[in-house]
Amino acid sequence: MQIQAQRLRLPSTRLDGVCGIIAITRNPAAAGEQPLAGLLIDCLERLEYRGYDSAGIALLVGGMESDGADDATIWRIRAAVSTQSLQEIKKRVQSAPRPPRSDSAGIGHTRWATHGRPSEQNAHPHLDCTGNIAVVHNGIVENWRELAEELTASGHELASETDSEVIAHLIEDELRMDTGTQLHNNYMTTLEATRRALRRITGSFAIAVLDTRSNSSLVVARRLSPLVVGMGGGMCMAASDLPALLGLSGSYYVLEDGEIAEITPESIKAQDLDGQARTLHPIHVSWDIEAAQKSGYDDFMGKELHEQPTAVMDTLLGRFISDGKLALDETRITDDELREVDKVFIVGCGSSFHSGLVVKHALEHWTRIPTEIDISSEFRYRDPILSSSSLVIGVSQSGETMDTLQAIHLARRLNAKVLAVSNVVDSSITRQSDGVLYTRAGPEIGVAATKTFSTQIVTLQMLALYLAQLRGILYHDETSLIMDQLRDLPRLMQDALDRDEAVRAVAEDIAGQRDLFYIGRNTGYPVALEGALKMKEIAYLRAEAYPAGELKHGPIALIEPGTVVLAVATKGRLQKKMHTNISEVKSRGAKVIAVANDGDTGTAALADHVLYVPETVSLLAPVVDVIPLQLLAYHVARLRGCDVDRPRNLAKTVTVE
Ligand code: G6P
Repeated sequence: MQIQAQRLRLPSTRLDGVCGIIAITRNPAAAGEQPLAGLLIDCLERLEYRGYDSAGIALLVGGMESDGADDATIWRIRAAVSTQSLQEIKKRVQSAPRPPRSDSAGIGHTRWATHGRPSEQNAHPHLDCTGNIAVVHNGIVENWRELAEELTASGHELASETDSEVIAHLIEDELRMDTGTQLHNNYMTTLEATRRALRRITGSFAIAVLDTRSNSSLVVARRLSPLVVGMGGGMCMAASDLPALLGLSGSYYVLEDGEIAEITPESIKAQDLDGQARTLHPIHVSWDIEAAQKSGYDDFMGKELHEQPTAVMDTLLGRFISDGKLALDETRITDDELREVDKVFIVGCGSSFHSGLVVKHALEHWTRIPTEIDISSEFRYRDPILSSSSLVIGVSQSGETMDTLQAIHLARRLNAKVLAVSNVVDSSITRQSDGVLYTRAGPEIGVAATKTFSTQIVTLQMLALYLAQLRGILYHDETSLIMDQLRDLPRLMQDALDRDEAVRAVAEDIAGQRDLFYIGRNTGYPVALEGALKMKEIAYLRAEAYPAGELKHGPIALIEPGTVVLAVATKGRLQKKMHTNISEVKSRGAKVIAVANDGDTGTAALADHVLYVPETVSLLAPVVDVIPLQLLAYHVARLRGCDVDRPRNLAKTVTVE
């Protein structure tokens, strides 16, 4: 497969967003037979592979057909019947009493809920109070709570629980400020009002704005979330992802970070958010739809693995709010109850269990609360000692894993407080818990967890920080400092991912092995476990992980000349001891591949190969250190001809015991 598109992997460009957006403006004369509603739905269907829970479209109707733009109104259809939502919208469009006749402009959206449960009310497009402005959004408005309060105080009525809706009202607000209370005026363009509104937002966005005043032009903008623009055949289109546009446009452009544009069927007028004119540069795209759905990667696992910095950034956005409180997504647990917690249990399966093992160290260190990590299927049968002061955290990407659900049922029966960490809004685990924190990794299609693992870790770390702060063990300025270190992780993760080629070279060297050993200590041990799990899952190699200090109690008997040992040896309290463990296996003939920090000559002197990663504080290092091990499993699997997205005998979600 030839990939010539300037891979949409520019450093400032997110690979993917959580939701899918489409915006089309077209010259009715060039529109052909297909009604615009149908075209919008077709484009959204090309984004379906990402998964979604609800969808919606909005079209400009009237106006162009009648004798003036002032007659134009917005015609909106939304549905929240999970992955059937687009079908439902199709049905409603067909059976609508007056199908929209306008073929000039429309926007559409597939939603993967982050703020507010999947429902028709929360589905996009969102309208302002007047119903003249419709907005679709992909991203996270970090300061939406403050903005929603401000808007409500000034008389706006918000109709949904989403962060996105505030954008429509902010645009309305800018227009109102311009003219007192009159909206339909000639003074401020939609572009200008949107630009001003976006300057009030912190966080990420790719948006499209439909305004009844603007004839057939649309406004699109982005910060951190991706947005691609396509033009040709009397149309200009914008979408969060290339597959929506392929084959429909002649030329393609990427809106750069912090750019806003007014698009018409014939023109793109771009600015930065300061109002300075910008020129969009065309990109050459030679992907077919399948390649584009994977952002040019050969498989979803490759794509998702590389999305980790973005996913972690999204997960961190807006979580610690101004007064130092952690914004739980849903909670029926009070701060007083959290203060009373005297024991924490984290339960999960597979990678979700490993994320708990990683965070145990930080949780106990920061909060001084004894913490146990359990495999869900063991926990539920082991008669755990729980009380109303126990906090049981169920970690589940899907939120549907039977064993984890049963584990939290047991916890609730025994009166414990239950908090869910999940990637799927409104999944079973979130409905059956007292509080919820969502990882905002977006849909993960590859069976082997990658971006959901790293986002689970940072989510649990934020929770740990909050508990420490509530209990007076860490002061707010100390948690802020650690939050800053957490916010630096996406940069370090990207740096680790950029060394993909070096990992691939090592993969070639070991792809013929049958057995691999992974060792680590402290937070390096769960990293070793996760690295070995990836290798088992997708490359089908026998990969066993051990706490390095335990080697001499059995596993070392298995080391013979040529045995490959992966050693997680990044800097930390136990690094010297780790060096001793490496020497123990080296002296028995093992070939050692170490994960070590840049410039660490001490580890390099002991190992046969080094997979270098940038350094960070050791309690936070696992999300960086695991990256070369994920990449290694990925490359070994591909070299061995395995299907990394659909490994044999495994399911993404295990809903049976
Ligand atoms: C399956 C998946 C793993 C996942 C585990 C737990 O085994 O293949 O990738 O870690 O389930 O799933 P959950 O959805 O509960 O996190």
